[in-house]
Amino acid sequence: MKIAMVGSGYVGLVSGACFADFGHDVVCVDKDASKIDRLHAGIMPIYEPGLAELVSANVRGGRLSFSTDLAASIKGAQAIFIAVGTPSRRGDGHADLSYVYAVAQEIADNLTAPAVIVTKSTVPVGTGDEVERIIRDSGTGVQFAVVSNPEFLREGAAISDFKRPDRIVVGAEDEWERGVMREVYRPLFLNKAPLLFTGRRSSELIKYAANAFLATKITFINEMADLCEKVGADVQDVARGIGLDNRIGSKFLHAGPGYGGSCFPKDTLALLKTAEDFASPVRIVEAVVLVNESRKRAMGRKVIEALAEAGVGEPRGRKIALLGLTFKPNTDDMRDAPSIAIVQALIDAGADIVAYDPEGMEAAKSLMPQVAMAANAYDAVTGADAVVLVTEWDAFRGIDLEQVGRLMKSRVLVDLRNVYNPAEVRASGWYYSSVGRK
Ligand code: UDX
Repeated sequence: MKIAMVGSGYVGLVSGACFADFGHDVVCVDKDASKIDRLHAGIMPIYEPGLAELVSANVRGGRLSFSTDLAASIKGAQAIFIAVGTPSRRGDGHADLSYVYAVAQEIADNLTAPAVIVTKSTVPVGTGDEVERIIRDSGTGVQFAVVSNPEFLREGAAISDFKRPDRIVVGAEDEWERGVMREVYRPLFLNKAPLLFTGRRSSELIKYAANAFLATKITFINEMADLCEKVGADVQDVARGIGLDNRIGSKFLHAGPGYGGSCFPKDTLALLKTAEDFASPVRIVEAVVLVNESRKRAMGRKVIEALAEAGVGEPRGRKIALLGLTFKPNTDDMRDAPSIAIVQALIDAGADIVAYDPEGMEAAKSLMPQVAMAANAYDAVTGADAVVLVTEWDAFRGIDLEQVGRLMKSRVLVDLRNVYNPAEVRASGWYYSSVGRK
């Protein structure tokens, strides 16, 4: 089957490469000529484990190509995916749909044969109706249908999430487009991945509801962590104790500095806007957004408290080393990373910050120009008064804490991801503070 993927960002590129790997003939389209040039040269625009290899294997196999020419690329494609960005609109938090609608118009103007237009971008309820209207109003005489097919890809694990999904959600109104989508996902379908057909509006809402629920789960355990600290309980035990109940489930119960990334912050806000538009309040999600925002800054205060309790004193003039800056490991993505608020809180308190992140420093530089970037973790901690583990990269799990301690001015460790064993760390002379543990 011939597939056109319009938008070669994170979602478009991963999905396009995986579809090609299924044996489809895929062309990934993007307006950004330099991105397409780099893809032709085998250079990935994002860091995602396994992606470069998957792309190059499928390019070599003749199943994957790249183009800036939308009109030529959609010719003969039975499925045309829209996978462009839907960032939060400045000022009001609504999803900005201008890129989606511009692509819909361009597809409408160039459609020459029957095709299913599939929205993979995360879009508010009703967007599919508008895309359909745009194409219909263009006066095309060609048969088409508009389908919703949200992605559930985690950065850093996107390829396995695509190839071994918990479910595939397709919002389609008629049998013709359902048949095309069955064909698109045939290899997964044969592997018994649940393919859930719903109406288009339900499918659009499923994506937001899923992300809002996961954000709620994280925020819930984060508040439990705060309570654990007050009452002398251990949040990891609490998470395990509730997670073993199948109705709750153990995933997404890791307490930490708050969620960030390209999806949860933006999608929860957009859901609030939809709820407002339809006068149907989602108060739990409202609370989640507020709690998560204030939590990120509160993590800065946690570091300041640790300095005081460890006897180091006021943060002014102290050197604080941050290990990890990205919103989570195995990505170079800095979008809404808790590190940004933590750095701001510490700088406001007069501290000097030095940081190291295996992949995120390039993107972080412009977001936190006052932070000195180190060549490695050991350089970052040299002469520091405290070290803060912000992102749980594997490299930091296995770090030599004895050497770290020798390089630092004082042994103060704030572990915002509960990576280390409190008893062991304290036994080697550290002041150790973590999240929701005594
Ligand atoms: C998420 C969804 O998981 C994915 O299905 C959706 O399509 C896009 O958004 P992603 O943003 O890549 O994926 O990362 P995810 O692994 O879900 O983590 C999001 C944030 O939550 C990170 O900041 C992470 O550190 C945090 N998190 C996650 C926790 O703090 N605790 C947890 O238990 C899980």
